[in-house]
Amino acid sequence: MINDNLKIPQHIGFIVDGNGRWATRQGLSRSMGHKAGCDNIEKISLYAFGKGVKYISYYVFSTENFKRSKEEVDFLMNLFSTSFKKYAKKLHKNNIKIIFSGRKEPLPQKVIDASLEITEMTKNNTGGIVNFCLNYGGQAEIIDATKKIAQDVKDGKINIEDITISNYKSYLYQDLPELDFLVRTSGEHRISNFMLWQLSYAEFYFPEVCFPDFDENEFDKALLVYNKRDRRFGGINYENKNN
Ligand code: IPE
Ligand code: IPE
Ligand code: MG
Repeated sequence: MINDNLKIPQHIGFIVDGNGRWATRQGLSRSMGHKAGCDNIEKISLYAFGKGVKYISYYVFSTENFKRSKEEVDFLMNLFSTSFKKYAKKLHKNNIKIIFSGRKEPLPQKVIDASLEITEMTKNNTGGIVNFCLNYGGQAEIIDATKKIAQDVKDGKINIEDITISNYKSYLYQDLPELDFLVRTSGEHRISNFMLWQLSYAEFYFPEVCFPDFDENEFDKALLVYNKRDRRFGGINYENKNN
C-alpha cells in the first residue's frame, strides 16, 4: 500500500513500449501485444487520475512507426479507429477529457475521424486529460510550431522579438504544462523523438517491464522513485542536507 503523502507528478508521459516483445515472448502475434497495451492504457489512466495526476501523455505511434510492416501498421490503425472509441467511452464516463497530438498526414481518414469524434465527445470533461501522441514526433512538432511562428511574423501578427520560451509553447500541438515524469517501459533507455520540448526538466524512469505488464503495483513503484528525486530546475535545494 502506498502512503498518501507522496508528491504526485502533475503531468506524466508514457512511452508505451515493449508491446511487441511482450507478445512474442508468449508465442502470440505482435498485434496481441498492441491490444494488451491498449487495455492497459485504460486501466492505468483511471488509477493515475485517482492518485491525483492531472495530465497523461501516451506515445502510441511515432512518425517513424510507419516504417513497420503493412500488416502491423494496418492493425494499429484499426485499433486507433475502432477500439479507441470503446476505451474513450469508459474514460468519458469517468469525466476524462481526451485530446490527440501529432500530424494528420499520412493517417487514414478513419483514424482522423475517430480522433475528432473522441475529442468532441470528451471536450467538456474536467477529471483529467489524456493526450494521445499518435503519428507524433518531437522534431515534427518543433518544425510545425516554427512554421506557424514564421507565418505569424510574415503576416505581421507578431515581431521576431515577441518569440519567447513562454509563447513558443502556445504554438505546440497542445498548451499543456511540461512533463514532470517520463516513464518508458521495456528497459529501453532512449527518447525516440518524444516531446523534446516538453521534457526539458522531467524526471526519467525506465522500468524493465513491458507496457502490458505495467500495472497498478508498477505505478506505485514508479511514484516512489519519483518521490526520491530532488528536482532542482537549475537551482539548489538548500533544504536537502546533501546539497
Ligand atoms: C510500442 O510497442 C507500441 C508502438 C510503438 C506502436 P512496440 O511495438 O515498440 O513493442 P516492441 O518494442 O517492438 O517490443
Ligand atoms: C517509440 O517506440 C514510439 C512509441 C512508443 C509509440 P519505438 O519502439 O518505436 O522506438 P525505438 O524504435 O525502439 O527507438
Ligand atoms: Mg518498441
